[in-house]
Amino acid sequence: MPKPLLCPPEILARDLSGKTFVVTGANSGIGLTTVEQLAKQGATVVLACRRVSEGERARDTIVAAGAKGAIEVFELDLAELASVRRFAEKLLAKHPTLHGLVNNAGVMNTPQGKTKDGFETQFGVNHLGHFLLTELLLDALKRGAPSRVVAVSSCYHDVAQGRFGKLDFDDLHFEKRKYDGWEAYAQSKLANVLHARELAARLEGTGVTAVSVHPGWVRTNLISATMPRWVQDYVLYPVFRLSGMIEPWEGAQSSLYALLAPDVEAHAGAYFSQRGMYRDKSANAGGWPMRSPNPEAHNDAAAKKLFEVSRAAVGLA
Ligand SMILES: NC(=O)c1ccc[n+]([C@@H]2O[C@H](COP(=O)([O-])OP(=O)(O)OC[C@H]3O[C@@H](n4cnc5c(N)ncnc54)[C@H](OP(=O)(O)O)[C@@H]3O)[C@@H](O)[C@H]2O)c1
Repeated sequence: MPKPLLCPPEILARDLSGKTFVVTGANSGIGLTTVEQLAKQGATVVLACRRVSEGERARDTIVAAGAKGAIEVFELDLAELASVRRFAEKLLAKHPTLHGLVNNAGVMNTPQGKTKDGFETQFGVNHLGHFLLTELLLDALKRGAPSRVVAVSSCYHDVAQGRFGKLDFDDLHFEKRKYDGWEAYAQSKLANVLHARELAARLEGTGVTAVSVHPGWVRTNLISATMPRWVQDYVLYPVFRLSGMIEPWEGAQSSLYALLAPDVEAHAGAYFSQRGMYRDKSANAGGWPMRSPNPEAHNDAAAKKLFEVSRAAVGLA
């Protein structure tokens, strides 16, 4: 099996004392291992979780393992804009300066549904909730510059189980077309890539660098809307592992690199990918950064339009 990309050890040995990071969806999977590493390096890390009890359980485990940095748990439900606003207000009252935001939380291939504000679930949680969160935290990130915004996207922004990633501006919420869980996931993950691209352009000169990442195919709870997790972990695991599935620690490497590697500043707006499954097989090896094989990921007009449409949708226009 090909080896995943791993961060150079010096990046993961850097002292992060005095730095504050926010990681969404930090109670499990890739987010949890990202937090573990940042806390090990001495950073203060805020776990933004929709289930506070799960966040606290994760915090206790990390503390028991000997984390150097402080770990705090704040409630954040990305499926409700009011929750995003409450989270930002509470966070900024305690941490007016931030050094990194990892927009990691996500859902995949969910049944058709809507967020509290009436957005299609995957577009609402994976993109619009994070979009509002990022806008509300921008001043704090500017105060902490040099700082980073990392959008955890997916190679599925290119093609998800045969459905090509594209934004349908006439029907972002699947009200006119037939709902397809993979198509909705691909759309939301393309939105993550375009959000980082446009954000980077808008933040030029501020010291805040925005990028997007693909973490790899990682053994996490993300599969649970598609199949029970035990089927992934015990029945299909040998085949999945041989086909390239990696562990959460390996899956956190792209986020950690995007957050901590010095050269990332020279690649604002770029896409950093672990090994992936792309329509152009030559891209499968990944790269930090690499050019997305999806032509739509390079569509600046779409990125600008998405930004404006998103501002209006979350009530900032
Ligand atoms: N695993 C992969 O193969 C893979 C591949 C490509 C990209 N990704 C991306 O990686 C990111 C992390 O996923 P993962 O694989 O680590 O899966 P995971 O273990 O399921 O983690 C997802 C996290 O997001 C949280 N979340 C879901 N809905 C939320 C909401 N409405 N508000 C706040 N938090 C919410 C979950 O909270 P609960 O525990 O409460 O559900 C969980 O903490 C996702 O953005 C995913 O799209 C993963």
